[in-house]
Amino acid sequence: MQPHTEIATALTKEPSLHEITVRGWVRAFRSNRFIALNDGSTIKNLQCVIDFENFDEHTMKRITVGAAIEVTGVLVESQGHGQAVEVEVKEVTVLGDADTEDVKKTILSPKRHTFEKLREQAHLRVRTNTFGAVMRTRSKLAFAIHDYFQKNNFYYMHSPIITGSDAEGAGEMFKVTTFNENSPKKEDGTFNYEEDFFGKETNLTVSGQLEAETYAMGLGKVYTFGPTFRAENSNTSRHLAEFWMIEPEVAFCDLDGNMDLAEDFIKHVLKYALEHCADDLEFLENRLLDEEKRKPQNERSDMALREKLKFVLENNFKRVTYTEAIEILRNSKPNKKKKFNYLIDEWGADLQSEHERYLVEKHFKCPVILFDYPAKIKAFYMRLNEDEKTVRAMDVLFPGIGEIVGGSQREERYDVLKKKMEDMDIPEEELWWYLELRKFGTCVHSGFGLGFERLVQFVTGMGNIRDVIPYPRTPGNAEF
Ligand code: 4AD
Ligand code: MG
Repeated sequence: MQPHTEIATALTKEPSLHEITVRGWVRAFRSNRFIALNDGSTIKNLQCVIDFENFDEHTMKRITVGAAIEVTGVLVESQGHGQAVEVEVKEVTVLGDADTEDVKKTILSPKRHTFEKLREQAHLRVRTNTFGAVMRTRSKLAFAIHDYFQKNNFYYMHSPIITGSDAEGAGEMFKVTTFNENSPKKEDGTFNYEEDFFGKETNLTVSGQLEAETYAMGLGKVYTFGPTFRAENSNTSRHLAEFWMIEPEVAFCDLDGNMDLAEDFIKHVLKYALEHCADDLEFLENRLLDEEKRKPQNERSDMALREKLKFVLENNFKRVTYTEAIEILRNSKPNKKKKFNYLIDEWGADLQSEHERYLVEKHFKCPVILFDYPAKIKAFYMRLNEDEKTVRAMDVLFPGIGEIVGGSQREERYDVLKKKMEDMDIPEEELWWYLELRKFGTCVHSGFGLGFERLVQFVTGMGNIRDVIPYPRTPGNAEF
């Protein structure tokens, strides 16, 4: 194929008498004259002006919404509003037809469709303005993440997808097996996994943290960035069964250093997005404003999308202990007026997203890092404090999102970890290697996990996590 000019590039060119060739999909065709062409390289369409008298009727009929076409013509100064340049069409070739009647039955038809409808046609939704903008931003954010860690001398570590352990100890795993109903069983009728593919029970990873810790103990600073899986039956706008997580892990770093890292990292990524996704964020900001117009006043946010990103960038995250947070919540209006679904009355209560959002959105009005949680409500690997009641855990809470990061300083003391695992019924035969790490040059170390989709939600202003990943996996949904 002859090379073509990307529309993003064409739109930045000066008008000239040189011919260019562009390829893309027809977004609109007005008055038998104006083709709005989009090739995915930018949210912006390229206007291609065609003089129908010079083209045969058959070709003209095939220029329909959704069709893939190739246009060759001259880039000239635009006569109309809304664009600096346009293409005067000299040649047009229809590369792939799209039948108008068929298109009408899909989300490609140019009218407003609900996000629910778009999810049902997830194979086509990237051709809408909103999804194009979200997915381009997602890609840039992924790059920004690597950019941050690579610039700060972290090594990218690939933790395994199939594991024999439960990193969070929460039992929310998808099993991996080649067994079927006729596979070997033990005397008690249960499957004999010793004869399964891996010779043991295995599952899809819920987190790469434990393996990342082993690598931090040799490479110093590492991060993972890969898919993780949770079989939790949560049908919320913040949970997926398959999501991407970024997990840095750092040797010789305590909880304070971990909080500094999380804050600096998030700010870098937001700054990158503001600088590199300007057109898409402008579109998404207007989309959100439009959506919010249809909401009651008290549910609208006081800041526009990019303003919110800048606000987070320019302000320090508020660091608060769990104990302080409980006091605030206990004395809060919604708690006293019994407006929370889960009322806070004693220390030790797990925080629900309504509490997290109250702290961030109503009380502090900025991102919050909560730390030193009760040991009982956190995972086994977190370092026990001197009070023996709390652990060096931290959660970063964001407006509109709630928990975006979960992390901790790790328990590096062999005996303390061993006892904790026993107390919490974490099988040592599964995690012997993790425990053993504490026998050979153990050291203070910390890390955290950032849910990539929650970050994409925050940056793009999308309300539902299903709309920031190409093919969402949620309970009851694995189409495509
Ligand atoms: O708080 P979580 O469960 O922490 C861990 O997995 C640790 N091993 C991380 C670490 O210390 N290395 O998950 C971390 C983050 C959450 O804060 C949230 O942003 C995201 O992962 N997350 C989910 N995102 C989408 N869907 C789900 N079901 C998620 N569960 C967690
Ligand atoms: Mg968590």
